[in-house]
Amino acid sequence: ENAALLIAIIQNAIDGIITIDERGKIESINPSACLLFGYAPEEAIGKNVSILMPPPDKEQHDEYLSRYQQTGRAHIIGVGREVVGQKKDGTLFPFRLGISEVQYSGRKIYTGFIHDLTREKEAEDKLKEYA
Ligand code: HEM
Repeated sequence: ENAALLIAIIQNAIDGIITIDERGKIESINPSACLLFGYAPEEAIGKNVSILMPPPDKEQHDEYLSRYQQTGRAHIIGVGREVVGQKKDGTLFPFRLGISEVQYSGRKIYTGFIHDLTREKEAEDKLKEYA
């Protein structure tokens, strides 16, 4: 069936995929995102997505969500941005974040696509050393 195919695609995606509700609560997280951030699915689900980022975004992310919901002005949705994530062990790492807004069974959810940039950044830094 169609749903089984979609689940297989998400479960095997190389990029991390996370969905949150409109208040920022994590509703689903795929294996890639679990690996990247170091959380088991049951540790992450139900928590605020802000557990995955360092300050100052950590303290402000709820406001980012309400700002967007009140103004309708997207800063990352439809554009993407390079941001810094925080793993469970505290390690920071850069990634490309893509967000889309999804109407799902009568309510709004957000899906975040997480593309790790650790290796790209390391290569960039090496190049700079020789420049
Ligand atoms: C907005 C950072 C993860 C959903 C923002 C903004 C920042 C940010 C800085 C505000 C942009 C602005 O107002 O200029 C981060 C960081 C993350 C993260 C550092 C690292 C884990 C996520 C994830 C999702 C998400 C995984 C969705 C599953 C949103 C939404 C907005 C937002 C819906 C408001 C819409 C918009 O500004 O386009 N985030 N975010 N964020 N974030 Fe996150």
